[in-house]
Amino acid sequence: MSLWNRHKIFEKNSIILIVGILAVIAIGGLVEITPLFYLKSTIEAVDGVRPYTPLELAGRNIYVREGCYLCHSQMIRPLRDEVERYGHYSLAAESMYDHPFQWGSKRTGPDLARVGGKYSDDWHVTHLINPRSIVPQSVMPGYPALARTELDPSDAAAHLRTNRAVGVPYTDEQIVNAAADLRAQVDPDGSGTDAFQKRYPKAVVRNFDGKAGNPTELDALIAYLQMLGTLVDFKLYNEKANLR
Ligand code: HEC
Repeated sequence: MSLWNRHKIFEKNSIILIVGILAVIAIGGLVEITPLFYLKSTIEAVDGVRPYTPLELAGRNIYVREGCYLCHSQMIRPLRDEVERYGHYSLAAESMYDHPFQWGSKRTGPDLARVGGKYSDDWHVTHLINPRSIVPQSVMPGYPALARTELDPSDAAAHLRTNRAVGVPYTDEQIVNAAADLRAQVDPDGSGTDAFQKRYPKAVVRNFDGKAGNPTELDALIAYLQMLGTLVDFKLYNEKANLR
């Protein structure tokens, strides 16, 4: 039997063809996937990346709940126009504690991966309540309810615990103190500041929405936006990677 005739066996019988296709795909899959199990890490570790504080995590949950990702991506591609507009391209490690990640591909508004520190807290308060008071032609909806809604601290610990279940290294102490840390991060004069900063050394303590009292959903969302893309010191990173 010539080779051509043997091939006819596959071409004339769809079941045998399907089995053949599956066998070929399985080999390709194994070649691609097996090495990942032997690498120590598929994400290189980068100094400065840390898990979210309870307040930032709450802000992130609000970001997901409100569907901000439908208009905003959080991944700067390594292309010149993107890097010039938004800053250093995103590293995999910068979203290693994101469950689920917010990379996205829809950009009705700008990418937010490095929006942290770009504007003042006041700017965000005004913009989130009514974007058109800052950018008259903006199509972004306003979110005035966030300023009126107090954050519910009762589920803070559960959110940390859930993230730990999928691999974020929260300690028992961080979980037990989650609700207290939520309040401490918006209260620079409070008694919880020192303990909070010990648990989250580089996190910013500030009254994000500018109003005294219990943390609001607006506090949480702004705390989250203001830390986006600020964890990695790219001066150090570029030296180490020997990049410019
Ligand atoms: C319908 C699409 C849409 C949705 C939904 C949306 N945005 Fe926007 N966003 C925009 C557009 C368009 C702009 C640019 C104009 C402006 O600044 O308002 C923008 C701008 C921004 C900026 C300023 C970015 C910069 O670098 O100047 C931030 C911060 C922001 N949005 C946050 C959010 C957050 C947080 C949410 C969810 C609560 C959200 N957006 C939901 C469309 C959207």
